[in-house]
Amino acid sequence: MPILTSDVDTASAAYLHNREVQSAAVAALNEQLEIVAAGGGERYVKRHHDRGRLLARERIELLVDRDAPFMELSALAAWGTEFNVGAAIVTGVGVISGTECMIIAHDPTVRGGTMNPYTLRKNLRALDIATVNRLPVVYLVESGGADLPTQSDLFVDAGRIFQKLTALSSIGIPTISLVFGNSTAGGAYVPGMCDYAVLVDKAAKVFLGGPPLVKMATGEESDDESLGGADMHTRVSGLGDYFAIDEVDAIRIGRDIVAHLNFRKLGPGPTQPADDPLFDAEELLGIASGDSRVPFDPREVIARVVDGSRFSEYKPRWGTSLATGWASVHGFPVGILANTRGVLFSEESKKATEFILLANQTDIPLIFLQNVTGFMVGAEYEQGGIIKDGAKMINAVTNSTVPHITVNMGGSFGAGNYGMSGRAYDPRFVFTWVNAKLAVMGAAQLAGVMSIVGKAAAESAGREFDVEADAKRTAEIEAQIERESHPFFISGKTYDDGVIDPRDTRSVLGMALSAAHSNVVSGRRGFGVFRM
Ligand code: COA
Repeated sequence: MPILTSDVDTASAAYLHNREVQSAAVAALNEQLEIVAAGGGERYVKRHHDRGRLLARERIELLVDRDAPFMELSALAAWGTEFNVGAAIVTGVGVISGTECMIIAHDPTVRGGTMNPYTLRKNLRALDIATVNRLPVVYLVESGGADLPTQSDLFVDAGRIFQKLTALSSIGIPTISLVFGNSTAGGAYVPGMCDYAVLVDKAAKVFLGGPPLVKMATGEESDDESLGGADMHTRVSGLGDYFAIDEVDAIRIGRDIVAHLNFRKLGPGPTQPADDPLFDAEELLGIASGDSRVPFDPREVIARVVDGSRFSEYKPRWGTSLATGWASVHGFPVGILANTRGVLFSEESKKATEFILLANQTDIPLIFLQNVTGFMVGAEYEQGGIIKDGAKMINAVTNSTVPHITVNMGGSFGAGNYGMSGRAYDPRFVFTWVNAKLAVMGAAQLAGVMSIVGKAAAESAGREFDVEADAKRTAEIEAQIERESHPFFISGKTYDDGVIDPRDTRSVLGMALSAAHSNVVSGRRGFGVFRM
């Protein structure tokens, strides 16, 4: 297979500028991740430890295999909102007893581990990832239930958690709950719906109503243990399958349950040599543009991400604003689509369509490296059928059934986001580089469009156009869109599965591909490959 070369000049002004901007963005990301890892903060962490309990991340660390990585997802959920960044829950893919699982852990140090609307989004996304990739779910439960002041944005959709858990079980994906503390009211249905429930002695509290509510409802005097303790549930009600003497014991039992699931991946293992790229991933910080309006050659990225920097380019001389080709990542064969110059023309759209069909014909997963400003506009292109050609690409992306993994490297704007397998097109995973932006269009363009529309409206109404007010409004809109295009904001809304350091791309793709191969990897059959 052809091997990529590199033209990167590490002494050039552009490289040094990019490096500076990207490094600052990575530092800002790390700062946020530290805040996330601190949970509810020192006071609540100390109180939790003083109660003899482990933190959510400590539980996960003990649960996963020694030295196995944990790919955390949606770490920045709720960023920029009134809620704690991280949204009081930790989710991610980790290897337990040799099996890749989706781990979902409440963080009891943040408002008692209660669920706000962002917690719910993050939780549901984790369950969706488990479903499409066929990953067993291990729930680490300790939650006060609903964040009550936000119940109206929460209550109805929260039912989906239990619905999805049941649906997972019905398609042969095991679900396991380890209950460390509160799991009351609606929360009781987590152990209720999971295939296995492990309850920690003197800590698990699994009941529909606690003692005060029972007293109010029926006048009965009761206590936590008789209503929902581990001893009662494992001896009397039978809800608990396993009695754990403490947290570490519960984790041991959880690992043992996964060990005997006899869970086998349905996709093939890595089939290609998984040798390192020939070029240094460190250089990605100088390659990725510091300014999202300045494109860069994605082959420089591919050369630092794929096995042995091998890349067999498909149709390299046609539709050159999009690079397409075959490679492998950590031994998993992949097809890659990567924007080279931002805009997608008709040729690029047709080339992408053909390439996606080819990947489906041979069951090869696709990686979309986005840096796209949208489909080309203008009379020439409209008359040339750009809408029809974009529609072909979007159709192919929609109906492709091989796993898609999407990485926004710089910008993801307009319908380019859709064609390049944006979140609405159900890629298995979506990641965003630290300095990438996402919006319907760039902030300046959007503000400019609004200004033109305002001027036309004033003219047609016979009003005088207030130039000064327009300039102020334009500046405000531009600032707003700039803020909303920021990767932390996008991740805060869980429109992706995480913001990543560009240097981690190969590792993240490798883990995502491995997870995707837990399920069958099978392309769409039925049409053959249309020559466009
Ligand atoms: N909604 C919103 N905030 C809540 C909450 C809820 N359901 N439950 C707790 N909080 C807040 C508390 O007000 C407190 O805030 P503060 O520290 O700013 O004062 C913080 O979370 C921690 O609560 P605290 O009670 O000190 O923690 P704890 O670890 O001792 O107990 C709970 C945690 C969850 C067991 C306990 O708070 C509780 O029983 N909450 C009510 C649970 C409930 O009824 N949920 C509804 C189920 S549908």
